[in-house]
Amino acid sequence: MNKRFYLETFGCQMNVVDSERIVDLLQQIGYRQVETPEEAGLILLNTCSVRDKAERKVYGHLGRFKPLKDENPSLILGVGGCVAQQEGENLLKKLRYLDIVFGTHNVHKLPEMVQKVEQNRTRCRETEFLDRETRLQLFPKRTEGEAVTRFVTVMQGCDNFCSYCIVPHVRGREVSRPSAEILDEVRHLAGTGVREITLIGQNVNSYGHKEGGEISFAELLARVNAVEGIERIRFTTSHPKDLSDELIDAFGYLEKLCRHLHLPVQCGSDRLLREMNRGYGREQYLRKVTRLKGICPDIRLTSDIIVGFPGETEEDFEQTMELMAQVRYADVFSFLYSARPGTAAADLPDETPAAVKQQRFDRLLSLQEEISRDTWAADIGKVLPVLVEGESKQGKGQIFGRTTWNRIVNFEGDSSMIGKVVPVRITKSFRNSQLGSIQEPGARSR
Ligand code: 5AD
Ligand code: SF4
Repeated sequence: MNKRFYLETFGCQMNVVDSERIVDLLQQIGYRQVETPEEAGLILLNTCSVRDKAERKVYGHLGRFKPLKDENPSLILGVGGCVAQQEGENLLKKLRYLDIVFGTHNVHKLPEMVQKVEQNRTRCRETEFLDRETRLQLFPKRTEGEAVTRFVTVMQGCDNFCSYCIVPHVRGREVSRPSAEILDEVRHLAGTGVREITLIGQNVNSYGHKEGGEISFAELLARVNAVEGIERIRFTTSHPKDLSDELIDAFGYLEKLCRHLHLPVQCGSDRLLREMNRGYGREQYLRKVTRLKGICPDIRLTSDIIVGFPGETEEDFEQTMELMAQVRYADVFSFLYSARPGTAAADLPDETPAAVKQQRFDRLLSLQEEISRDTWAADIGKVLPVLVEGESKQGKGQIFGRTTWNRIVNFEGDSSMIGKVVPVRITKSFRNSQLGSIQEPGARSR
C-alpha cells in the first residue's frame, strides 16, 4: 500500500492549524508527507468557502486529481474544511471519485476514516458538529516547536453572523479554551525554542465572553507576556466591536505585544455596516483607532474591506474610501462581495452592475497601493529590530525575519541568527517585503 500523502491547504490560519494536526494524525498511522500529488497514495484538500473564488479553486483542484484516480483506483481522495462542512453528502454525490469528506469539527476522525477506506473501500463522511465539551477536549494542541514562530489557537467558531459570512455556518459556535491550557502550551513552545506566539481564533478578542468567569483577552495577553523565552506576541483576527479599552491599553504596557493590529472594518458606510450586521458604526470604529494611536503612536493597522456588498451606492463606496484615507492602513485585503448560500445577505437584491463593482474595486486598490507604498517606504533608513525566522527564499546567503509591523525583511546573515532579534537597517521597500542590512546590536527588541 502506498503510505504517502499529499495535503493542500486553502484559506485562513485556522485551516493552517488544522492541517498541522492532519499531518500529525496521518504520521501516527504510518503515512509520510510528500510534495507532489503524483507520488501519493492519499490526497487531501483542506478547503475554504469564505469567498466564491476560494471555493471555485477547490473544485478546480479536485478536477485535476480525477485523472490520477482513473489511472490508480487505489488512490484515496479526501476533502476537509469549510467546503466539506457545507456540502457534506452533496460532495460525495457530485464527485463519484471522492472517498472521504470530513468537516471542521471532525479532523480527529481522519485516521479512522482513512483506515476504513484502505480496508474495504467504503466511502465515508463525518460532518456533524460536536458539543462544547467535546470540542474543548479536541482543541488543536502544539506539542513540538521546531520553529521560531507558532500559532496557538485560543478560541474557535464565531457567533457574530455578519450577514455576508459563511464562517458561523461552517465553523459553529464560539468556544474559548481554558487559559491554563493555553499558557501551558505557550510555556512548552517557549521551551522548545519558539520565540513568537500568534494567538488565533475567528474572533480572538471575544475570548472568554461566553465562558463567564474566565479571564479577559487582555489578561490572557498579559499572562502570555510574562512567559519567559517568548519575545513577541501577535493575535488575529479581532472584531472592532470587541476591541475593549482594556485591550487597547495593553498596546501601551505589554512590551512583547507587536505594534500591529489587523482590525477589519469591511466598509465605511454606517448604512452598510448595519446591513452587514457588524455591530459598530463608522464613528465608533474611528474612535477606537484614535485611542489606539494615542496609546501606541507607531502602531500600524491592517484591514479587510468588501467592495460591492448588495445595494452599495457610490456614496457608500466614497465613505469607505474616505475612511481608508483617514486611517491610513499599512495594508488592506480587499474582496469583491460574493453571495454565500445560506447567509442572510444571499437573499438581498443586488442591482449594481459587475463592471461598476470592478471599477470601485480598482479605485480602492490604487488608493491603498499608494498609502501602502508610502507607509513601507518610510522605513527606509531606519534600524528596526527583526526576529529572524529562517533562511530566505531568495537564497544567496540571505536570511529573513519580520519587524514588529509583521513586514518580511530579507538581509544577509547566517543561520546562527535564527530565533534572535537583530537590528536591521532597511534599505529598500518592495510591494510585500523589505530589504535590509544587519547593524550593530543594541536595538529595541519588539
Ligand atoms: N464576500 C466577499 N468577502 C467576504 N469575506 C467574508 N465573506 C465574504 C463574502 N461573502 C471577507 C471579509 C473577511 C475576510 C476573511 O473575507 O472581508 O474579513
Ligand atoms: Fe465572519 Fe463576521 Fe464571524 Fe468574522 S466576525 S468570521 S466576518 S461572521
